[in-house]
Amino acid sequence: MPLNLAPRKLFVTTALPYANGPLHLGHLLEYIQADTWVRAQRMAGHAVQFVCADDAHGAPIMIAAQKAGVTPQQYIADIARSRAAYLAGFHIRFDNWHSTHSTENQQLAQDIYRKLQARNLIARKDIEQFYDPVEGMFLPDRYVKGSCPRCGAPEQHGDSCDACGAVYAPTDVGQPRSILSGAVPELRNSTHLFFRLSDPAIQAFLRSWTADATLQPEIARKVSEWFADGLQDWDISRDAPYFGIPIPGEIGKFFYVWLDAPVGYLASLKNHFDKGGARNHWHVPSRTAQTFDEFLGDPLLEQVHFIGKDIIYFHALFWPAMLHFSGLRLPSKINAHGHLTVRGEKMSKSKGNGLDPLRYLDLGLDADWIRYYLAAKLNGGIDDTDFNPQDFVARVNADLVGKFVNIASRCSGFILKKFDATLGLPDQEGLALLGNLQTLVEQAGARYEAREYARCIRESMAMADQVNAYFDRNKPWELAKKPECGAQLLAVCTACLEAFRLLCILLKPVIPALVGRAQSFLQIAELDFASAARRMGPGHRIGAYRHLTHRVDSALVEQAFGATHLPSGCPRPMACAEKTAAAKAIDAAGN
Ligand code: 2FM
Ligand code: ZN
Repeated sequence: MPLNLAPRKLFVTTALPYANGPLHLGHLLEYIQADTWVRAQRMAGHAVQFVCADDAHGAPIMIAAQKAGVTPQQYIADIARSRAAYLAGFHIRFDNWHSTHSTENQQLAQDIYRKLQARNLIARKDIEQFYDPVEGMFLPDRYVKGSCPRCGAPEQHGDSCDACGAVYAPTDVGQPRSILSGAVPELRNSTHLFFRLSDPAIQAFLRSWTADATLQPEIARKVSEWFADGLQDWDISRDAPYFGIPIPGEIGKFFYVWLDAPVGYLASLKNHFDKGGARNHWHVPSRTAQTFDEFLGDPLLEQVHFIGKDIIYFHALFWPAMLHFSGLRLPSKINAHGHLTVRGEKMSKSKGNGLDPLRYLDLGLDADWIRYYLAAKLNGGIDDTDFNPQDFVARVNADLVGKFVNIASRCSGFILKKFDATLGLPDQEGLALLGNLQTLVEQAGARYEAREYARCIRESMAMADQVNAYFDRNKPWELAKKPECGAQLLAVCTACLEAFRLLCILLKPVIPALVGRAQSFLQIAELDFASAARRMGPGHRIGAYRHLTHRVDSALVEQAFGATHLPSGCPRPMACAEKTAAAKAIDAAGN
């Protein structure tokens, strides 16, 4: 990402979270990864629109609302209100947050469907499906339980067995029953609509797109396996009752939640433009305001999706096929990442092993610490990222406190007390360090672009070590006692603070609040990658030093673990919290 190229124009999204519960650290892993990427793009002078939304449709949300005694609309509105505390708290700066339950999404999804239909890519097929006679609804596979047809284990899901790993149809399980009412389900016929992925035109398109789309190697491998298995037509309709978008021309049929979910990316962007919000975030001053259609129609626009590795199928196959055959632009990049584990285990509500993000903040723990820790473990691959509390405390204390902030705290006193807060010129050794750091900043754009955050942080901390070692070698505490060594003391402390400023540039996408405080202390303007070339320089005055961060207390971190803390602004906490046995089963069942 050389700085002298024309600014890029980017439309960036993260996966839309289901509106059926509070955000957890797994969501934040993705948002922090994407937010860091977006911040780095903006620091390189590129123009970004970064949006997200609630994924509001589907049977689990409809049923959770019923159980909470509210309408699905009220239920998702409560959830939507709870999001801001997480996003602001962890410095995740989406330009817009919207909902898939919106007029924009309905219009866009129906429009895409009509275009697919016009190209003869929608088929009708009769299917047999389990029906719950008590609840009066067709049951998604995971809403059926019974004994595994292979190993006989009781109480297994309708589509797979946790005991032996078998995968099967709900109609194969022994003694099937509905997880909603406990009733024995009946087999009934229903006509469903299918997106004809088996059509040769779609297959040919997907083969060529996935070959050209610079997918991560692990994903490209997965995609070729799927091709080898053959793509099946995709069932995109659900029968009423269902909380979703009505299918045009049909009675009592709704889009399956996964049809309209990614359309929500576009809906949120459209909502952002229609509200005039895109102008406020337009980082290229010469541009005039555009409409949603103009923005999306620009051939130079890059559309980048950040997603977890579990939803690659939807994003690398269904979504590009939907876009292409309805005449819309295609994603430029799909950035998939691994999942979050805690102490080496999958996070789960039943184990209660999750870190509660809001409790973490309420305890006075710093959001930038988590951002730093996660970024220090992230790269462009899809391996899982582990959150280990002891490792977290050790890492933050050693790196942010012991290496990075240490540089500012140990130099500032000398400059403030002995030199009237005014910087001088670095010595030769200091200049060499600054040169190396400047080279790192020149590479930083490319590191962030490739999501090589761990590498960028590793290299930054290695430089911080060198700066601290330079400080120690020069023994400023001894120089300060000898009036004849004043010039050397000033040169060393100046070099260290200039180096600290360059480290701030390197780390700003990851720890924006901490760097914001550092900018105030140094009395400098907002840092971007181009500012590396402009030193503070002799005569520059710094501000009073106040601690920029402090050591993490491991006992406090332990307190942040446990049962989910509800957002304090959530007006109907029970709507978020109520988890009856049935609701838990539904959560586990997915959408
Ligand atoms: O897996 C999930 O959590 C989905 N709600 C992600 C949807 S991403 C996009 F397609 F909306
Ligand atoms: Zn089994």
